[in-house]
Amino acid sequence: MDKLSVDHLLGIKSLKKSDINLIFKTALHFKEIINRPIKKVPTLRDITIANLFFENSTRTKISFELAQKRLGADVVNFSSSSSSVKKGESLTDTVNNILAMKVDMIVLRHPNPGSPLLLSKNTNSCIINAGDGAHEHPTQALLDCFSLTENLGDLKDKNILIVGDILHSRVALSNIYALNLLGANIKISCPLSLIPREIESLDVKIERDIIKALKWCDAVNVLRVQKERMEKSYFPNDREYSMLYGLDTTKINNIKKDILILHPGPINRGVEITSEIVESNNSIILDQVENGVAIRMAVIYLLASKMNFSISEQ
Ligand code: CP
Repeated sequence: MDKLSVDHLLGIKSLKKSDINLIFKTALHFKEIINRPIKKVPTLRDITIANLFFENSTRTKISFELAQKRLGADVVNFSSSSSSVKKGESLTDTVNNILAMKVDMIVLRHPNPGSPLLLSKNTNSCIINAGDGAHEHPTQALLDCFSLTENLGDLKDKNILIVGDILHSRVALSNIYALNLLGANIKISCPLSLIPREIESLDVKIERDIIKALKWCDAVNVLRVQKERMEKSYFPNDREYSMLYGLDTTKINNIKKDILILHPGPINRGVEITSEIVESNNSIILDQVENGVAIRMAVIYLLASKMNFSISEQ
């Protein structure tokens, strides 16, 4: 059986193209399973997974939990607001205590970049990064690229545009790493204040003219402005942002071609994208959410195999 090159999923940066292809192939199999009347397999019935979310989440948390349950794993959920973290316990101590209860795998969302790496070095467990601050969100990038591949085929030489708050976005960085591995051409479009300094070292081109950028691309991934990561505003106001960079019918009609529309969620309708575009025929936003479960099943299954956890026949 093919194996991942990594023991944890800390970020796309640590993956190879062959890892992504293996995850996609496995996700296709799980997508077929979760569309059957009986969506559940007993594959991971002997493993226990803890979901540790220190930041809010709707999609990622529910998607991981469904993925784990559909693989037959036992699942425990941890909420930082009602835990002993509030009494001053360190992240490593918290996780080591959870692991002492015979938990096999940890899914971690944390506001501090590098927290999953820290746990991978200081605990004896398999760690999956479910988003660490403004650093990486690897399963989101995998499900985005999987959804693109379903619609566009091989992403080599496909033109993918990312519009929005690139500076504060873990989704942008993980997508850039993944799209580069898959051979896509990448452009970003956003206000100058939301462009990270190191962007051009990541083989990404900047196109400030949103109409030119939209005419160039096969697909656009629209990102939310992450006000929770901003101490002050990076542009005058939402109205101006949405006039210049928000995706609306005027801009889409102007480009006179069909492009795929993606958004990782949560959506701020009327700011970075209008309801008409969210609900348009070219939007694959809910397909991304559906694919998220299959991608997370694939990641968990492949890491469990790599770690030689007990796996039952499907
Ligand atoms: N896309 C995403 O990470 O959404 P949540 O914050 O709701 O998990």
